[in-house]
Amino acid sequence: MDMGSNWAAVDEYLVGKLIGDADPLADVLAANAAAGLPAIDVSPVQGKLLHLLANAARARRILEVGTLGGYSTIWLAQALPADGKLVTLEIERRHAEVARGNFNRTGVADKIELRLGPALDTLNALAAEESAPFDFVFIDADKQHNADYVQAAIGLARPGALIVVDNVVREGRVLDEQSQDSAVQGTRRLFDMLANEPRLDATGIQTVGVKKWDGFIVAIVR
Ligand code: SAH
Ligand code: DHB
Ligand code: MG
Repeated sequence: MDMGSNWAAVDEYLVGKLIGDADPLADVLAANAAAGLPAIDVSPVQGKLLHLLANAARARRILEVGTLGGYSTIWLAQALPADGKLVTLEIERRHAEVARGNFNRTGVADKIELRLGPALDTLNALAAEESAPFDFVFIDADKQHNADYVQAAIGLARPGALIVVDNVVREGRVLDEQSQDSAVQGTRRLFDMLANEPRLDATGIQTVGVKKWDGFIVAIVR
């Protein structure tokens, strides 16, 4: 058997054993598909990983950059205590509308504040508000601004906070120095920044599964 071609099948096996065949968030993915949103949400096992990491960090305040239909948002919100809060940033009005519907139907709407606009702007606004720092940040929007998003996240997070960045491997394309793809360039700029960022203690973890070969950065704010 060619094991490499079985990444998706193994993901299904893991979901069956560890998440349950009736993935509680399957309705959300169905609503996203019905609304014509791109199927670029984190996978179920990745969503549960975010949930577990937020729980391990005892997160009470979570920041997300890139909402789409709110699939990752809901996994994260479900890790919050009753008085916890999640701020999620999205540029597309249509995505935000679909996400709000999903937040209402899954009962997490009262914990979530969705801010519409370019994340560079909404992150600046958050910084200006000087509200309580975040315990956990998930960055998953346009990849060309990832270095800026991580810089902003450092400023908005408490010491000890976790920062997770999605899609930092992209089937190995991250290695292509000459790439004309702005997402690859943005990811490489992020790694160059991390290589010289004393305020973060970071690692990269490669993943395979229904989202093929990709990876996360996981970092802790010192
Ligand atoms: N985190 C989601 C997937 C996000 S997909 C999940 O796993 O379920 C990336 C999202 O980032 C898209 O909805 C896209 O519209 C949004 N996005 C792209 N550029 C952005 C920007 N400059 N500011 C805020 N959101 C942006
Ligand atoms: C894309 C974006 C994502 O955040 C992701 O997880 C997968 C794919 C994309 O823009 O293609
Ligand atoms: Mg992603």
